Amino acid sequence: MFPLQRHRRLRQSEAIRALTREHYLSPNDFIVPLFVVEGKAVKDEIASMPNYYRFSLDLLAKEVKELWQMGLKSVLLFVKVDEKLKDNRGEEAVNPDGLMQKAIKTVKDAVPEMLVMTDVALDPYSIYGHDGIIDQGKIVNDRTNSFLARMALSHAQAGADFVAPSDMMDGRILEIRSVLEDAHFTDVGIMSYSAKFASAFYGPFRDALDSAPVDAKDIPKDKKTYQMDPANRSEALKEAFADIDEGADIVMVKPGLCYLDIVRDLANEVEVPVAVYQVSGEYAMIKAASEKGWLDHDAVMLEQLTAIKRAGATMIASYFAKDAVKLL
Ligand code: PBG
Repeated sequence: MFPLQRHRRLRQSEAIRALTREHYLSPNDFIVPLFVVEGKAVKDEIASMPNYYRFSLDLLAKEVKELWQMGLKSVLLFVKVDEKLKDNRGEEAVNPDGLMQKAIKTVKDAVPEMLVMTDVALDPYSIYGHDGIIDQGKIVNDRTNSFLARMALSHAQAGADFVAPSDMMDGRILEIRSVLEDAHFTDVGIMSYSAKFASAFYGPFRDALDSAPVDAKDIPKDKKTYQMDPANRSEALKEAFADIDEGADIVMVKPGLCYLDIVRDLANEVEVPVAVYQVSGEYAMIKAASEKGWLDHDAVMLEQLTAIKRAGATMIASYFAKDAVKLL
């Protein structure tokens, strides 16, 4: 009770603030998402993600060496697939010489100790821009799962350490785990996008990969039949518990900032690490506002990342990983 308690005593100098600070950011917190394209010497800036690039394999190798030197030890790979290689079920996704498979090998050759995680979902490979196979205007769950399991296996065979299914089909973790076990990839882990919301914050990512749902007859125009309703909270726990039962090693909440209540729920309730994906739209907002001089880029970035940790994230997939680590 005041004046016996004066809260400001613990805030009066940087020294006492440092001693009493509850959460710190470090390079160990981050997973770095990387966008990969075909070609040579390509370093393509993504229009809606200033200072973020798509790399060809040669420059990907250079980039991961730089990340490693900065103390960033995990990457999450996404590929931009040539339009003519796309179809309804993503057959190119299991091509042993496909871009993802080559990217995995490129990273492992450049930095053998780098943890390589891969995106498992059909959208970059789908002519319709959906995460699943479409049949008669619907995203079909079980046929998609069989394909996702083949895709995960193909990534494991190429050398991935973790697969990260981002598709939100039901039961895909069990199917992926079973296929990996049968093929003796018992050490390949699964980071499941368990609570992935049907968010409007993915726009810049879909620009980066040219993977937005197409506007055509009989094609669902959004992902609301598989990604979660932003209004729902308890459903996120249901999804996470199911994924853990099916064999997920890490569960994820995505996006970050708008969903920190979900992050805290999961951190309290589950016994596996909780990852948070700070998504492309969150990145774009900070870049745009700071370009206008309306926000202090570095301060806002660190505040948001710290808030994600405080909410309970064990790790953060973030396009700010390099920017943040430079400041720590
Ligand atoms: C799709 C996928 C998306 C992201 C990662 N994997 C977008 C979507 O669901 O359309 C978004 C990441 C971001 O916005 O940074 N499987």
